[in-house]
Amino acid sequence: MKTTISQAPKFLGQEVTIGAWLANKRSSGKIAFLQLRDGTGFMQGVVAKNDVSEETFQLAKNITQESSMYITGTIVEDKRSPFGYEMQVSNIELIQEAIDYPITPKDHGTEFLMDHRHLWLRSKKQHAVMKVRNEIIRATYQYFNENDYVKVDPPILTGSSAEGTTELFHTKYFDEEAYLSQSGQLYMEAAAMALGKVFSFGPTFRAEKSKTRRHLIEFWMIEPEMAFMDHDESLEVQEQYVSFVVQSVLENCRLELDTLERDTSTLENVKAPFPRISYDDAVTLLQEKGFDDIQWGEDFGAPHETAIAEHYDKPVFITNYPADIKAFYMKPDPNRPEVVLCADLIAPEGYGEVIGGSQRIDDLDLMKQRYEEHNLTSDAYKWYLELRQYGSVPHSGFGLGLERTVAWLSGVEHVRETIPFPRLLNRLYP
Ligand code: 4AD
Ligand code: MG
Repeated sequence: MKTTISQAPKFLGQEVTIGAWLANKRSSGKIAFLQLRDGTGFMQGVVAKNDVSEETFQLAKNITQESSMYITGTIVEDKRSPFGYEMQVSNIELIQEAIDYPITPKDHGTEFLMDHRHLWLRSKKQHAVMKVRNEIIRATYQYFNENDYVKVDPPILTGSSAEGTTELFHTKYFDEEAYLSQSGQLYMEAAAMALGKVFSFGPTFRAEKSKTRRHLIEFWMIEPEMAFMDHDESLEVQEQYVSFVVQSVLENCRLELDTLERDTSTLENVKAPFPRISYDDAVTLLQEKGFDDIQWGEDFGAPHETAIAEHYDKPVFITNYPADIKAFYMKPDPNRPEVVLCADLIAPEGYGEVIGGSQRIDDLDLMKQRYEEHNLTSDAYKWYLELRQYGSVPHSGFGLGLERTVAWLSGVEHVRETIPFPRLLNRLYP
């Protein structure tokens, strides 16, 4: 019977065959312990000299790291391994012997590992991070499908920019100038007017010259947009959605979080509602904490966000930033037009901003005024204005950065390990 490591528990006491690679190995005189991986999981294969042919035993003793094989044996319980099962091997059919696999079990430097990302992905830790990423995506679709949202795919090639013009990737679109999307938001607003509650999940691009552990050049965003919802209602969606994702990862990625040695106590606590602090109060709090570099009207950097987050044991919303440091489309607070109805959600433990969101301007004249102020005079923005002309309604939305969320839940330091093939300031390879 051919199966996979993930399905092995169903075959307790039976003989099965699994296609696998050798992750690691240990052997003594009469026994060899093969650490097997097949993509679905990791499992030990025990090869006892007395149970197999001499040829198989010699193969097991000499097999090299990352060699591929079909391995056959009986599935038995193994109380010492987190997986709980192992294979008592009866036969090995070598597919290919791997010679001089570059990533050995010893420590390697970051640049070396990044140059070998196509192979590094096979390691136990990277495998675990990719499984956490997958669970966040799965839970995202479940949450929005169960709550009546429609998945909509905004374009990647665009003529307009959502988040300012300085960080755009330019490309030729036949005779026109085009950009790679920084955010699907403007299109998602149009979609919300057609379908009510919508969400997107796709790649976005920022030609940001920042080299930090939170910035990628290409990253994936989940962008919900809701017609007839004000800012406070949007915050409730955000805290419900994030709580659902975190609890799903805790439930379905137990082995992976264990591999990653993630302290899950802080994650258990991530349940709605989340605390809210206004930008005004956040500035005061920072000044009290001794940050005398920050004045009202200035944007927060990573150290400021971390200091604010340390104040809470859950993710925290920082609300109502000054209009001048936020995007053109955000709706001013009617009682205080110098601030906008927006929030950034800051993750605990220094993982930074995972969500940016806001209520959008729904008034045609005010949007026209913003166009003037931000120089959005090209024809490319004409359609977006028309959304305010034909049945404009209050609406809100937000964008969750997938990689920052993966980093937070996995407990990895740098976003470069949260996406299969990271695009960084100085890296397009592999
Ligand atoms: O705050 P941002 O720029 O918001 C928007 O793009 C809105 N248009 C979203 C919306 O309302 N529909 O980006 C949203 C999130 C950030 O909170 C962060 O998690 C992530 O995207 N993000 C990045 N992640 C990795 N690398 C980068 N360079 C990122 N820039 C933003
Ligand atoms: Mg932001």
